[in-house]
Amino acid sequence: MAFPVVDADYLKEIDKARRDLRALIAYKNCAPIMLRLAWHDAGTYDKSTKTGGPNGSIRNDEELAHGANSGLKIALSFCGQVSFRRFLGFSFPVALWIVELNVSSIALLEEVKAKRPKITYADLFQLAGVVAVEVTGGPTIDFVPGRKDSKVSPKEGRLPDAKQGINAFKVSSPHLKDVFYRMGLSDKEIVALSGGHTLGRAHPERSGFDGPWTKEPLKFDNSYFVELLKGETEGLLKLPTDNALLDDPAFRPFVELYAKDEDAFFKDYAAAHKRLSELGFTPA
Ligand code: HEM
Repeated sequence: MAFPVVDADYLKEIDKARRDLRALIAYKNCAPIMLRLAWHDAGTYDKSTKTGGPNGSIRNDEELAHGANSGLKIALSFCGQVSFRRFLGFSFPVALWIVELNVSSIALLEEVKAKRPKITYADLFQLAGVVAVEVTGGPTIDFVPGRKDSKVSPKEGRLPDAKQGINAFKVSSPHLKDVFYRMGLSDKEIVALSGGHTLGRAHPERSGFDGPWTKEPLKFDNSYFVELLKGETEGLLKLPTDNALLDDPAFRPFVELYAKDEDAFFKDYAAAHKRLSELGFTPA
């Protein structure tokens, strides 16, 4: 089986949308929320029923209301900029928050969709994820268009829960494995993709967690793994599911490799991100 074929006009529109997204993400500083949106659309995939996955269904109100998607609707026009200022401890006017609460990450992408109506939401969300990684200094991720949109949302509970799955040994890796194996992804892909937390931060009003994982949350590099190995650092976040990568013997060697070899991380991340963005789209 091969990828679905798109025509030359569609490919041209993808090229233009890529440029639109580069400008939008740079101007609005919203790479982290775009990456999170792409991952949350794709990460619902269930390989046994071939349901969920990168099909644009996250735009449905029902799915956006899932707890794990908190903040994807209430993202903003000044997203990264505000978060970054907040991280640095700068003050900012209340007006920015008002703008922030009125504009959603999907609304931001609606601007691009309105200009490029041929492109499916499913392709647009995944393209936004790929561009978010590239413009923040990460690896180039191969993007193949042709995803179809779906109005059917999976039931809540398919995405990982940062607070869940801690077992008697205080290790949460069984939860990560349950969730990512269901998608058809491997231990190496779990660790590489967790490196997506090199971007962005947690917000108490969204997830209950607070803070960025790295000192430069708008830069895509291997510092997530460097910080993870250092242990607790004031001002930086470690979710139980991040710490699980250190405790599990199947995960830890990849954490150590990626902390010392950024090229290895970029290579594995690009391959894992491509797989995530194509779940259910190409034969697994
Ligand atoms: C943010 C959990 C995997 C990309 C977050 C937040 C949580 C979380 C709790 C904070 C949300 C907020 O308060 O705003 C998890 C868990 C994962 C996981 C439990 C399981 C391994 C991933 C993956 C990617 C990713 C695979 C991408 C490849 C992001 C990004 C943000 C984020 C970029 C920052 C968003 C922002 O700054 O607004 N994640 N995540 N995460 N996640 Fe994950």
